[in-house]
This record gives sequence, structure tokens and C-alpha cells, in this order.
Amino acid sequence: MSVYVLIPAAGSGSRFGSATKKQYLELNGQPILAHTIRLFNQSPRVDAIYLMAPEDEIGFCRRELVERYDFEKVRDVVRGGEERQMSVYNGLKACCARPDDIILIHDGVRPLLHPSLISETIRQAETDGACLVAVPARDTLKEVENGRVVATPERRRFWQAQTPQAFRYQVILKGHEKAREEGFLGTDDASLVERLGVPVTVVEGSCFNIKITTPEDLKIAEALEALLKEQACT
Ligand code: C5P
Repeated sequence: MSVYVLIPAAGSGSRFGSATKKQYLELNGQPILAHTIRLFNQSPRVDAIYLMAPEDEIGFCRRELVERYDFEKVRDVVRGGEERQMSVYNGLKACCARPDDIILIHDGVRPLLHPSLISETIRQAETDGACLVAVPARDTLKEVENGRVVATPERRRFWQAQTPQAFRYQVILKGHEKAREEGFLGTDDASLVERLGVPVTVVEGSCFNIKITTPEDLKIAEALEALLKEQACT
């Protein structure tokens, strides 16, 4: 059984509003994406990594990330799609995994994942077939329509989904193929597996594992990284 990692990094970063796409912006002197790839490249449990990038940036990613930082586990840089879901699907098709292989999917813009969560999600996907990293909701949630609260769901039942999300290849491929057939567009990969009626289990993550979406997030990531380093030294 092999473990493959798919890293979607083909977003336009339009919410970031900078000339450089957010995945290439630097966090402590290296592109965000280099930090993310390194986490998996260093994991002894990972066999191969596929990166999804915009078609016209594939050469740049190969040169400036894979070769420059010597990420020897990156097997290919694959063309992304218009939506994240399509980028992941292209990665699933490219990796040619066997049905029982484990596929980890992790956003390119989440560079602060703790390495222990990589082995934990792999272990859980081996036993359960499908799992995701999530954190319990901290704030009270409101359902709002037209600026008016229509419901306050019970907070303790709600978790915020993060990545990595990990699956047996046959399970995640089926989820994506069903979604494509039915024109369903989800905001994560686990939701496509849930639609198959397959149970998805939860691995409790950390609030450090943020997705860098805005310039403020980059500042927060810098502060979190400094905090993580401080913790590691004490
Ligand atoms: O924009 P969003 O928050 O969905 O981005 C999550 C991850 O998915 C990012 O790493 C982004 O580059 C990637 N993505 C992608 N293809 C797209 C859109 C987003 O690979 N079409």
C-alpha cells in the first residue's frame, strides 16, 4: 500500500489582492507552498506528492519549488482546474494509485500543519477509509438569511473542516466521479465522500493550521510560526 499526497495550488488568489499569488508569497524567507510541500516531503510515511498548479505556472513550480528545494518526492506538477474540486480530480487521475492506496489531500496554503497530523490521518484512513482534520467550533454559529438570524444550532455539534483529508483511493475517486456526473460542487473533498453514504471520521486538528487567504492571514501565520518555534524550544 502506498501513500500519495495531492496538493492543490492552482487558485488564482483573487481574495488576496496582491500581484504575487498567495501560494508563492514568502513566509520566513520561503514561499508558503515550499513550507507546505516540505512537510510531506519529510514524512517517512509519504511515497509520492503531486502538485496541482495553473497550466502556465507548471514550469515555474518545477523550477522554483521542486528543483530549487530538492523535493524529491514530488512526482509531477499537474494542471489544475477552474475550481479546487477540479484541480483535485486532475491530481487523482494523474497519480494512478491502486484502489487501496491512501490519498491525502492538503491545501497548498496551509503551511503550519503539525507533522503528527500527517501520520495520524494516514493511520485513520487505513482503518476507516475516509477521515478529515477538523477543529471544534469556538464561536456560536448563526444561520442567517437576508441579514436576519433564522437559527442558532447547538455549537457542540459543529466542527470546522481543515485539511489534510485522507481516503482510500477507490473511495475518493468514486466521490469525485459521482459529483462530476451530478454537477455537484463541494467546498471540500470529504463532502463528496459523504454523498456516497460512506462514513467520514474526524481527527482533531489545531487552530494553528490556518488557510492563508488574505494578507492579514500571512501576518497571523508569521506570528503563529514564531510561537510554534518558541514552543519547540521550551
Ligand atoms: O481558494 P480556496 O480557499 O478554495 O483554496 C484552497 C486551495 O485550493 C489553495 O491551495 C488553492 O491554490 C487551491 N485551488 C486549486 N484550484 C482552484 C482553486 C483553488 O488548486 N481552481
